[in-house]
Amino acid sequence: MQPSSGSRPRDAWATNAGFLLAAVGSAVGLGNMWRFSYIATQGGGAAFVGIYLLLVAVIGVPVMTSEFIVGRMTQRSPIGALRSLGGPRWVPLGWLFVAGGFGIISYYSVIAGWTMRYAVTALGPGIPADTGVFFGEVATGADALLWHVLFMGITVFIVYGGIKKGIERASLILMPLLFLLLVGLAVWAFTLPESRAAYGAYLDPNLGQVFHRRILTDAAGQAFFSLSLGMGAMMTYASYIQTKHDLAREAVIVSACDFGVAFVAGLVVFPIVFTFGLRDLVGESSVGALFISLPTGFASMGAAGKLVGGGFFLMLFFAALTSSISLLEVVVAAFVDRGWARHRAALVFGLVAALTGVPSAFNTDFLGAVDAIVGNFLLIVGGLLICVFVGYRILPQADGELARGLDSPILRRLWAVLVRYVVPALLLALLFFMLEPTWEAVKTLFTAWM
Ligand code: TRP
Repeated sequence: MQPSSGSRPRDAWATNAGFLLAAVGSAVGLGNMWRFSYIATQGGGAAFVGIYLLLVAVIGVPVMTSEFIVGRMTQRSPIGALRSLGGPRWVPLGWLFVAGGFGIISYYSVIAGWTMRYAVTALGPGIPADTGVFFGEVATGADALLWHVLFMGITVFIVYGGIKKGIERASLILMPLLFLLLVGLAVWAFTLPESRAAYGAYLDPNLGQVFHRRILTDAAGQAFFSLSLGMGAMMTYASYIQTKHDLAREAVIVSACDFGVAFVAGLVVFPIVFTFGLRDLVGESSVGALFISLPTGFASMGAAGKLVGGGFFLMLFFAALTSSISLLEVVVAAFVDRGWARHRAALVFGLVAALTGVPSAFNTDFLGAVDAIVGNFLLIVGGLLICVFVGYRILPQADGELARGLDSPILRRLWAVLVRYVVPALLLALLFFMLEPTWEAVKTLFTAWM
């Protein structure tokens, strides 16, 4: 077993609400704000939303419950948790999580840096009318690097503070602000002239489009990324729980909040796109749409656009921040459990994360490729292995841990069946369909450097 951090007691959440908000904060991120609604329009509106919800219920909730169980049961970071429950053979999975954490944070922080830059520009001098040119200046090069490093600095500052005084406190402040901004923006978007038509386009059920392989795999990948699964982030957060709450219920709450935010974000984005005639600008790239199309709309609104645009990108920044702290915490927790001081771990690995982001700050193709490989493929691999671990290696203990809060044997049985059979089968199919795009991304990763 790992040496625990000497005589220092392990940090923990002060309240259950703090844990829930932090977990929702991890889940709600850049993935919710644009990608969800973007895929929804490609994939048949309300019919897509239905399928997505189904995937969240069938795949997301059981996997999140499993991560919660392992974390709370062991009170350790994923590496220590897997070692104590599964023996040394399972330790590499913990390292895969740590590597995945670095992988995601490396490019996630670059995009988060853009959102900061946009928020500051919108509230200050105003975003220039030619948003395409502006994005070109902001997205790569020394500027991108600077804001990426700044964002990492803020992330480190919060993680440095620990669970109670850092992550929990930040979540208690940032998440309510995020909800307020989101609701305010949704109400404002409702008043836009084209909002009815936009809701129609967003939500018109089109069953014909949903059952395309591409849409289904996109939806499943999106659900996984959006719920922060497959990388030990939820496991790590749950390792700081000391109450007997029903973990399945908490997984439902977190998933529902995550879905709710994604859904409402669509109600913000679509009316803007429709009202300002940006439909043609929303090209193939979802990132381009977010950072080029929407600001065009804001810019055409004059003074009001400053406020709305500033609020919008501030909201994205808060969403990104509460997600990136969970990514860094996975890495930091692993080393705190091995006896490192938290301060040192936060600083050292924050610096490492900032360095691993350098290629993404200089090349958006590279950024996209890392997202496809780590943000999609690797997470599914991680999720599959978590299911195998929980469903086949430690099922009786895991069931016992779940039973501390969930009395119903029927629901626990349902969870076990999902984790043992249904989810692994679905994830295997998904991995198979992802092989080709992932291979393409691997090639891009190398050519981006040539
Ligand atoms: N869920 C976040 C989003 O939607 C991203 C994220 C944070 C994440 N932590 C994670 C994704 C852990 C996978 C694993 O933007």
